[in-house]
Amino acid sequence: MELINTIAALGALLRPLREAGKKIALVPTMGALHKGHLSLISRAQEEADIVVCSIFVNPTQFTDPRDLEKYPRPLEHDLGMLSEASCDVVFMPAVQEMYPGPEQWHIDLGPAEFVLEGEFRKGHYQGVTQIVKKLFDAVEPHIALFGQKDFQQVLMIEQMVARFRLPVRIITCPIVREEDGLAMSSRNIHLMPEDRRHAAVLSKALYDTKASFEQARSNPDGLSRLMLETLEAEARRQISATPGVELDYFIIADGKTLMPPPEGLETGLVALVAAKVGSTRLIDNMILS
Ligand code: PAF
Repeated sequence: MELINTIAALGALLRPLREAGKKIALVPTMGALHKGHLSLISRAQEEADIVVCSIFVNPTQFTDPRDLEKYPRPLEHDLGMLSEASCDVVFMPAVQEMYPGPEQWHIDLGPAEFVLEGEFRKGHYQGVTQIVKKLFDAVEPHIALFGQKDFQQVLMIEQMVARFRLPVRIITCPIVREEDGLAMSSRNIHLMPEDRRHAAVLSKALYDTKASFEQARSNPDGLSRLMLETLEAEARRQISATPGVELDYFIIADGKTLMPPPEGLETGLVALVAAKVGSTRLIDNMILS
């Protein structure tokens, strides 16, 4: 496994491989790796000849400096996992390498930038797309893989790829869950044991919503907007009744726009949730149809 810190060294390593016709995959991460990340590496290995995993805690996507400061950085553990997973290249640039000077970035990501996570974390997706574009420029991957857990993030990145017509295919991989359903996340390690137990309510509410959605869908009259609102209300009640859990949102949305689905739309729907559990903010989602 090659460990690379600079864009120049990365280019020198990858250029001849690309010229020799090798297919390159990029798995961008901020480290603190878990089985969800490993599923991305493994899918990348099925799809490409060379897998590059980047580890970079990107300052421009954090809205709260305390959040950036406390973001876990267990580098040795991460490198051990990547080596075990037979990752080919790890790109670990310093902040100065990715941001040598002050720079403004603004890209039109459409109205979905400002809802849900975009509302709670202002400017977050500008920071995410900024670093992902820089990583794409540095690696020039044929494919890039992201987890469905950050549903809105994938949508924003797809929007950027379309806007700049970037020659990279985005692959979204399914959420990997703990035994009790909690979506794997680098932030889970901050959960106190009691909060960890309570956090399972988020996935439980999603699974229950999906089951009720399927039942409602089999109704001969089809799904109504009112039915979806009833499902949302039930999930919100279930989550809010759990001690230590402070709900930010639970919504059923059109997966393409993240807006409330128009009456009659029964496909491409997704339920998305965010809540603070103890002092840790978690997000999760489930595709309903
Ligand atoms: O999902 C993440 O870990 C980050 O948002 C990403 C895509 C690596 C950009 O910093």
